[in-house]
Amino acid sequence: MRKIPTAILGAGGWIGQHFARLLADHPWFEPPLLVGGERTQGRTLEEIWQIPEEGPPGPIARDRLTTASPAALERAGIRVAFSALPGDKASLLETELARRGIAVFSNASAHRMDPRVPLLIPEVNPRHLGLLHPRPGRGFIVTNTNCSAAGLLLALKPLRDRFPVERVYVTTYQALSGAGFPGVPSLAIGDNVVPYIPEEETKMEEETRKVLGSLRGNGIRPLALRVIANCARVATREGHLEAVTLPGKYPEEGDILRAWKDFHPLQEGKEPALPTAPLDPVLVHPAPDRPQPLPDRWAGVPHRARGMAVTVGRLRVDPDGIRFYLLVHNAVRGGAGGSVLNAELAVREGLLGEVV
Ligand SMILES: NC(=O)c1ccc[n+]([C@@H]2O[C@H](COP(=O)([O-])OP(=O)(O)OC[C@H]3O[C@@H](n4cnc5c(N)ncnc54)[C@H](OP(=O)(O)O)[C@@H]3O)[C@@H](O)[C@H]2O)c1
Repeated sequence: MRKIPTAILGAGGWIGQHFARLLADHPWFEPPLLVGGERTQGRTLEEIWQIPEEGPPGPIARDRLTTASPAALERAGIRVAFSALPGDKASLLETELARRGIAVFSNASAHRMDPRVPLLIPEVNPRHLGLLHPRPGRGFIVTNTNCSAAGLLLALKPLRDRFPVERVYVTTYQALSGAGFPGVPSLAIGDNVVPYIPEEETKMEEETRKVLGSLRGNGIRPLALRVIANCARVATREGHLEAVTLPGKYPEEGDILRAWKDFHPLQEGKEPALPTAPLDPVLVHPAPDRPQPLPDRWAGVPHRARGMAVTVGRLRVDPDGIRFYLLVHNAVRGGAGGSVLNAELAVREGLLGEVV
């Protein structure tokens, strides 16, 4: 198969750099054209690089961020645009790209609740891509969820497949990078916790219901699930920790652990079915003080899927319900990696007219 030409919009931002890391040597996608905003245009990727665990990816480290309109991207033959744009810019730009025949995989919230747009997590609701059929080769928008909702949904899905989950209480401890670069002022967050992230709680509640909803004709019927979220910003760098309570009658601990451990919707034999899919999307950590952001945020194998697994732990079962913690890498599974996985599923489903 010929590799598919791609671009990253907002390549200089936090999510944009994670996209660059994942796409520089992707087996199905060409190394991306890097489209930046006012601050980063004209600079090389290595000049603006911010991810401390890894250097800028070799094949594109010296590429300069450029400016490009949707018309210019269409003329350049770009087939897939990965969007790391701020929400206010994403709304019109992504619509225009899709109108020009480009497949847009977006992190922005602008189109998430649009009834015609799949809000996708391949392990959870792959059938929602059906909203786009039949249109191989045409433009469209697929979004991923809010970063905290992504972790919650991966932990919930195997439980909901086996047990009647009726109500979800979730409290988040969200990392600084969730606010992008440069993010929260250091004097506001150092020695502090901020119990307010604009619109975050509503996004978690609405998006969870849409993702778990059912495909009906041309739309998604949201699941009638009560989700009650409290979201706080804490002074960690990457990785959102979430405390989850599911009230109700649940079976014993072993059955719940088995539901998570047996959850492998994207495995073919012993291999991941898509290049960026983790072998185990939900990992159970047995230690009493895990998961934690620092040691657990890069969870996931194979190497290309690091940061794509959600770690759960501290499961407690009692007669009134269950409680557990989860940890999700906000910028990988909850951000760029989630979008890349969405694009891989779309390619595999023939939505780009290519056969893999
Ligand atoms: N951070 C997370 O954990 C996370 C997780 C899930 C979803 N998201 C969403 O993903 C999007 C990106 O988030 P982020 O955290 O990466 O924010 P960010 O660090 O602020 O990055 C946004 C980037 O967009 C660029 N930009 C602005 N206007 C542009 C334009 N017209 N053309 C091209 N680039 C443009 C900016 O470029 P300059 O720097 O050059 O001005 C900036 O680098 C947001 O919609 C956010 O809500 C973020």
